[in-house]
Amino acid sequence: MSGDWTIRAAERRDVNDLVKLEVAQFPEPWTKGMLLDEIENRETRRYTVALDESRIVGYLGLMFVLDEVHVNTIGTLPGYEGRGIATTLLEDGLAVAKERSITRATLEVAVSNERAQALYYRFGFRPVGVRRRYYERTGEDALVLWADL
Ligand SMILES: CC(C)(COP(=O)(O)OP(=O)(O)OC[C@H]1O[C@@H](n2cnc3c(N)ncnc32)[C@H](O)[C@@H]1OP(=O)(O)O)[C@@H](O)C(=O)NCCC(=O)NCCS
Repeated sequence: MSGDWTIRAAERRDVNDLVKLEVAQFPEPWTKGMLLDEIENRETRRYTVALDESRIVGYLGLMFVLDEVHVNTIGTLPGYEGRGIATTLLEDGLAVAKERSITRATLEVAVSNERAQALYYRFGFRPVGVRRRYYERTGEDALVLWADL
């Protein structure tokens, strides 16, 4: 089930919650400065958060490049996984991309991250290549996925 989560645009005041989510969920978490640069770049980025009451329980960061959308980041707060949060965020983000006449979506995902891959495959993403040692800290390879919207 999905679609029950409230989604809104990410704001400056969200950044500390987003840093906590990053640290909890990513081996190479983004810093506050990186997140602020992303959130405030409204020209080419679209950052959204999912809320449980007023609590931030997930977020999605998109980057628009010509007729492509890049999924820069997506994460769900530990303890909230498997409840459709990432699904709702992606449904919202990709629907907005389509409204903007974006035709293709792409992202990188760690080869070991089967959970995230299953999510992306449900949205029609397919692997087209591998970036060797894409993740500096772990040395892990990334799969490059693309989807037609
Ligand atoms: C990958 C990640 C974003 C998925 O987020 P999520 O909110 O758990 O995703 P969803 O709940 O939308 O979907 C995940 C699964 O839950 C299932 N699900 C969805 N709603 C559900 C519900 N209400 N009850 C039970 N299960 C549900 C989905 O069927 C899906 O199944 P799958 O494991 O077969 O894909 C999350 O695990 C995460 O933050 N991981 C760490 C960060 C990360 O790896 N990000 C991606 C980097 S590329």
